[in-house]
Amino acid sequence: MDAAETDAGLYRTMSTLRAVRRLRPDPVPDGVLRRVLQAACWAPTGGNRQPWRVIVVRSSEPKERLAAVYAPEWTRYTVPLRRRVERLDGRSRATLERMLAAGDHLAEHLAEAPVILLFCTDPAEMAFTDAELDRISIVGGGSVYPAVQNAMLACVAEGLGCTLTTLHCFREPEVMAALGIPDGWATAALVPIGYPVLGGHGPISRRGPGELAYDDTFGAPLRLGP
Ligand SMILES: Cc1cc2nc3c(=O)[nH]c(=O)nc-3n(C[C@H](O)[C@H](O)[C@H](O)COP(=O)(O)O)c2cc1C
Repeated sequence: MDAAETDAGLYRTMSTLRAVRRLRPDPVPDGVLRRVLQAACWAPTGGNRQPWRVIVVRSSEPKERLAAVYAPEWTRYTVPLRRRVERLDGRSRATLERMLAAGDHLAEHLAEAPVILLFCTDPAEMAFTDAELDRISIVGGGSVYPAVQNAMLACVAEGLGCTLTTLHCFREPEVMAALGIPDGWATAALVPIGYPVLGGHGPISRRGPGELAYDDTFGAPLRLGP
């Protein structure tokens, strides 16, 4: 496939998927939500077992319970970041300050997001091919996070803002109780979605393959032709 045949729209979607933390409370139409959820369901999972579920939280009471968990964890998580801001200057400082302000807004207004997607998963059904290694297991997440990413890419395509968040995991039992998630399950991501207050998704800042991709062995600079 040459450059002309690639799906420019897909690349644009991937390259503009940034955290959008300021959301309008306007409802998300069911048809839009259905497409976002369908995109999540297209994600691959180990053995095609689809061991994840997503709870579409739209009612005030459970949203408020999630917000009551999230906000103090955001405050706690950002204590060192707020200290770091003081030591930064120039662009890095401005970037971190912007992120903190947007994160503060999300924490204060989480319950007003029209929809919160809570992705959970059943470890008993997940393929953990690294479970016996002497390190924390990483592979299991591969059977839920592609679904989260697909949903978020679909949000970009639909003009919806979204952010992958995980701070609720610090108080997972409260989240499980609030949403009736059965014992033995685990939560993977809390994704507030809604139409953006500001510009929504847009340019992102990421290191590229020159830094993150290697040639044959770890650390060897990758040489690619045109
Ligand atoms: C695994 C993971 C967990 C994250 N958890 C949170 C979170 O709890 N709260 C939040 O505001 N953002 C969270 N984020 C969003 C990142 O902070 C964000 O993607 C990153 O700072 C880059 O910003 P950008 O996507 O706007 O370019 C998380 C992202 C990932 C991938």
